[in-house]
Amino acid sequence: MKFEQVLSIETSCDDTSVAIVKQDGYVVAQSSANQDLHHKAFGGVVPEIAGRNHSLQILPLIESCLEKANMSWVDIPGIAVTNRPGLMGSLLVGVVTAKTISLTKGIPYIGINHLEGHLLAPFLKDDKYQPPENFNYPYVALAVSGGHSQIYLVKEFGQYQVLGSTIDDAAGEAFDKFAKLVGLGFPGGAKVDQQAKLGQENKYDYPRPMIKDKTLNLSFSGLKAAAKRQIEKMSPQSIQEELPHLCASYQEAIVEVLISKLNRAIDLVGEVKGVVLTGGVSANSRLRGQTAAWAETKGLTLAVPPLRYCTDNAAMIGYVGVKRLNLGESSAQDLAPSPKVYPGDFIV
Ligand code: KG4
Ligand code: ZN
Repeated sequence: MKFEQVLSIETSCDDTSVAIVKQDGYVVAQSSANQDLHHKAFGGVVPEIAGRNHSLQILPLIESCLEKANMSWVDIPGIAVTNRPGLMGSLLVGVVTAKTISLTKGIPYIGINHLEGHLLAPFLKDDKYQPPENFNYPYVALAVSGGHSQIYLVKEFGQYQVLGSTIDDAAGEAFDKFAKLVGLGFPGGAKVDQQAKLGQENKYDYPRPMIKDKTLNLSFSGLKAAAKRQIEKMSPQSIQEELPHLCASYQEAIVEVLISKLNRAIDLVGEVKGVVLTGGVSANSRLRGQTAAWAETKGLTLAVPPLRYCTDNAAMIGYVGVKRLNLGESSAQDLAPSPKVYPGDFIV
């Protein structure tokens, strides 16, 4: 193996992250900084602010990661960096940093598809996490975050098929917009989860968008609109009193749709024994619990990477990067960031 490990960089949205990952997926170290406090006042990620913060955070994080790993540049034979998809100003910081290191240290670098990172995150390991026994290709993955909501078939390394996708909002966005509506702030998914633990999930009747639809596509804008109409009719006091029930009922609608689509995906592709939950929304306790129960009844091996590898992180990019460098791939100095995936990234 030419590349024992790589240093990887992730700056596609609002998390700045650097990791050192071995070719077997072992994460030697990861240093990350999120920017929630910078975007909170705006109720969402502001691209301009995200890009500027990445440029302030990236170099100290690289230093910190090398220090944590007890390594220096002589131990780093290659670099991996997310170059697609994402916010252009954010991606640019990571890509320029990777190119500069590549040039000055004389080591190769490779641009990585962020989504491939999410899909392979369950293979990462460290002193506290390792993939479940028997977990391997092929598997179905549900990737749900503030920016994406898709169901994939992961056939093997490099072979990914999009089975279904949201046609409007991402699942995390649906949580965040609801949280804002009921006064829980941004990003509010975790707060909705917390409130829901004290509420009844069947007290309010929210729609289950596209649950009967035969495709594996998802939609959350109708659900959000239904919640908005209902909440606007309530007084601030009754919203407060009913908050746990509102959260539990709304959350249940999202969880039910997601699991029903996962179930359909498994039935559709057949011969798949593994299922993966990834992305920031996979932190949701109801989604985790219900997916685990469902997977057990289906005899599936469920892998849910720990949050540090589920939300945007550099370790997942390092895992893909070290594999691709070892396959002889690398990027040239003219590599550009791209807001979209490349046509060949997914099987159509
Ligand atoms: O993957 P992630 O950290 O960032 C990107 O979107 O790229 O995902 C963040 C999303 C936010 O929408 C946040 O509200 C949601 O994940 N989230 C949750 C929970 N924790 C985070 N949604 C529901 N329940 C949670 N416990
Ligand atoms: Zn992501």
